[in-house]
Amino acid sequence: MPYPYQIKTYDQYKQAYQKSVEDPEAFWADIAEHFYWRKKPSGKILNWNFKEPKIEWFKGAKLNITENCLDRHLEKNGNTPAIIWEPNDPDEKPRIISYKKLHEHVCRFAHVLKNNGVQKGDRVCIYMGMIPELAIAILACARIGAIHSVVFGGFSAQSISDRLMDAQATFIITCDGAYRGAKDIPLKNVIDDALIGNKTVKRVIVCTRTRIPVSMIKGRDVWWEEEMKRVEEQGLNFIEAEEMDAEDPLFILYTSGSTGKPKGVVHTSGGYMVYTNYSFVNVFQYQPGQVHFCTADIGWITGHSYIVYGPLSAGATSLMFEGVPTWPDAGRFWNIIDKFKVNILYTAPTAIRSLMGFGTAPLDRKDLSSLQILGTVGEPINEEAWHWYDENVGKKHCPIVDTWWQTENGGILISNLAGVTPAKPSYATLPLPGVQPILVDENGKEVEGNNVSGNLCIKFPWPGMLRTTYGDHERCRTNYFATYENLYFTGDGALRDENGFYRITGRVDDVLNVSGHRIGTAEVENAINMHAGVVESAVVGYPHDIKGQGIYAYVIFKGEGIEESLAKKDILQTVTRVIGAIAKPDKIQFVSGLPKTRSGKIMRRILRKIAEGETQNLGDTSTLLDPGVVDEIKKGKI
Ligand code: WTA
Repeated sequence: MPYPYQIKTYDQYKQAYQKSVEDPEAFWADIAEHFYWRKKPSGKILNWNFKEPKIEWFKGAKLNITENCLDRHLEKNGNTPAIIWEPNDPDEKPRIISYKKLHEHVCRFAHVLKNNGVQKGDRVCIYMGMIPELAIAILACARIGAIHSVVFGGFSAQSISDRLMDAQATFIITCDGAYRGAKDIPLKNVIDDALIGNKTVKRVIVCTRTRIPVSMIKGRDVWWEEEMKRVEEQGLNFIEAEEMDAEDPLFILYTSGSTGKPKGVVHTSGGYMVYTNYSFVNVFQYQPGQVHFCTADIGWITGHSYIVYGPLSAGATSLMFEGVPTWPDAGRFWNIIDKFKVNILYTAPTAIRSLMGFGTAPLDRKDLSSLQILGTVGEPINEEAWHWYDENVGKKHCPIVDTWWQTENGGILISNLAGVTPAKPSYATLPLPGVQPILVDENGKEVEGNNVSGNLCIKFPWPGMLRTTYGDHERCRTNYFATYENLYFTGDGALRDENGFYRITGRVDDVLNVSGHRIGTAEVENAINMHAGVVESAVVGYPHDIKGQGIYAYVIFKGEGIEESLAKKDILQTVTRVIGAIAKPDKIQFVSGLPKTRSGKIMRRILRKIAEGETQNLGDTSTLLDPGVVDEIKKGKI
């Protein structure tokens, strides 16, 4: 059997789970045996306390994750496709890159990085579209021990600039532009704007994709292709991988929290590798030869873990798609599945719901018989979407895994294992071995038994969990480990049914989940408040048929003589400029005041209810400073 740690029956799951709880160190030490280490884990496998917090897995062991993702497959599987790349335009030729070729590209680009001065530990910001060079850039950083920080191609110059500063990044890898559906995104221009006033970035490497004109700054900007050619001409096809400690940082990925500023979640080499691989092999029940299609963008954690590191460390074939599900038409996913005989499809409920909107016509005459396993991630899936996926895509013979996890988790924490443990629509079901969830009430008291709900926490470390937030460990502590003593708090609410299966009900903090993207309400408010005419704003989420949650903004606006619709347009533009189009409010309501307590705190609960369409039961409003404002807001609801 290719993966000796692949769980094949429900009983085996129960045994593995029990062992993982009784002796977590021995459990993970056994799994770690199946990787390539320069120096194997030995002695203390785990050091931890959630107080500081301090989490160390396999410390002292040495490895390079790229030797696990590339080198170790070369001898037997060098010609196996590592990446199948489907471009945005269905008429453009796809690319199929074998492990041998990918290894060569990564080694060469690692030389390019070195030639340009990148050293172990340097932070490299990657802002690219979904082309194979993005995966190559990530792996090349890992090869030489540089810390990559990928920023999703939809973020604005301002967002990039903040992230560059926070990470003190010294290098950037980008593209001239990126294709996304009918759009053409000028990435390099955005980078140029982000770099105005920046003093830390020494070099920008620009990869060609859309061929839109870009300005190259002498001494700072170089072309990917020219740099690669130079390395190739010198015959530099191999580079020795940098030996890393298991606890050396592998990457930073910024994500939104309930405070205004996104935080840089830090993952390390050893634990992250073991956990993404273990979860990939078990949740998706991957078998060699299968084609795994994760539709996420590599700019998010799902792409990091289940397009790049999980599949590649397992020697799998990972399909990477540059476009969007609805362009040029809503049959795009189905065509890709038939074209490459995809076996595993892993996508977001928001994509399923948007495709549902087109009915089943785009599925007519599509074969889809290669599909064996379906997955969802990123947000709760409603039962209707679950059944539509099951009936029309999986034709009722593909197990669906509903995978719950977070950027901070590195990999899937709660999910059924495809075809091995039971599925239940809209339930993530059971924790993976090594994961110990508990529900607590407001006061942090454990809610025991079944048929209960509470705030979801994890009480024991797993190898893939975050270690810190970059440059600010205290922030990591207060965000995740201070709400409840000795627990990692997820920010999600959950219920546990009569069988002990978990259903994630959504965020209980001020974080929105819009089309599976995490956005902090405070972040959006800060952006809206940047507009000169805005006095104050309050942002809440409301249920949205396709996006899961929509963004509703209440704004106090003081713009003399400005037409309301123009002012709203202006505000949307401001948000796009400060964060990116993904954070644009769906609805903006101008109000003359916000419901506040006498101490000046905005009562979001009331605003949330009104945005949801509730007019009667607004709960206790007796502490309001000016109850009249609520009536006005109710009347003006959009
Ligand atoms: C939500 C994405 C319900 C949840 C991997 C979490 C989910 C946040 C699920 C993390 C799921 C993710 N069911 N909710 N299967 N998966 N979530 O960091 O609220 O982008 O806290 O990581 O998405 O989003 P993030």
